[in-house]
Amino acid sequence: MRKQIVAGNWKMNNNTLETESLIKSLAQHEIPDDVQVMVAPAFTQLSQSVSLTEAHSITVAAQNMNAADSGAHTGEVSASMLKGVGVHTIILGHSERRSLYGETDSMLQLKVQKAIAEGFQIIFCFGEELEHRKENKHFTLVEDQLSSALFDLPKTAWSQIVLAYEPVWAIGTGETASPEQAQEMHAFIRQLIENKYDADLANQIAILYGGSVKPGNAKEIFSMQDVDGGLIGGASLNAEDFMAIVNAF
Ligand code: 13P
Repeated sequence: MRKQIVAGNWKMNNNTLETESLIKSLAQHEIPDDVQVMVAPAFTQLSQSVSLTEAHSITVAAQNMNAADSGAHTGEVSASMLKGVGVHTIILGHSERRSLYGETDSMLQLKVQKAIAEGFQIIFCFGEELEHRKENKHFTLVEDQLSSALFDLPKTAWSQIVLAYEPVWAIGTGETASPEQAQEMHAFIRQLIENKYDADLANQIAILYGGSVKPGNAKEIFSMQDVDGGLIGGASLNAEDFMAIVNAF
């Protein structure tokens, strides 16, 4: 069976006090054995989050990483800095990084290669904008995003990869992809991996859905055959809502 994962992307939310309060509330809930739970705080809260989650089965992820080892990259954070604070999982390619901060497919390819070489687990995000879907270009767009960043990797590297399909039109808008739309895209992605690598690998890769997942719709989305969990934004900022989603399989 594939891993079931629920990851909370906190984005630029939660200062020190808020982080402490949210993680303490999360820690009071039972986490089902078959669900891997992750939270991705801002860089400044990583060390604190690692300490607070130590006794609990919650993985702390970073929201980004620079591909360079060190040097003149003002405002950036390297792989060794993340490892130094006990972080071994990163989100890469989030649509906000792409649209607001100019991350391109070729930059992401470098980041992915660096993160793989450094032993990180990667949650790789991708997804189409509304105009692509309206023009029926969403499958091509997703295929391009995946192939440029990931399809040069050797099969062995995929044990470090989790995919997160996040249609941009569903992020923070309250408009979710229907379970059928999510399933259709996830099945397409699995088929791409099978075509490029093999069926074994395609069946092992966890593919998360992200975009306005809430306690009220998570069960329906997670019940789809090729949906292995969610990458949660807004609803991950509230412990009750996030844990309701964790328990929605
Ligand atoms: P929302 O759940 O707020 O739509 O955000 C999704 C997201 O961007 C997670 O990375």
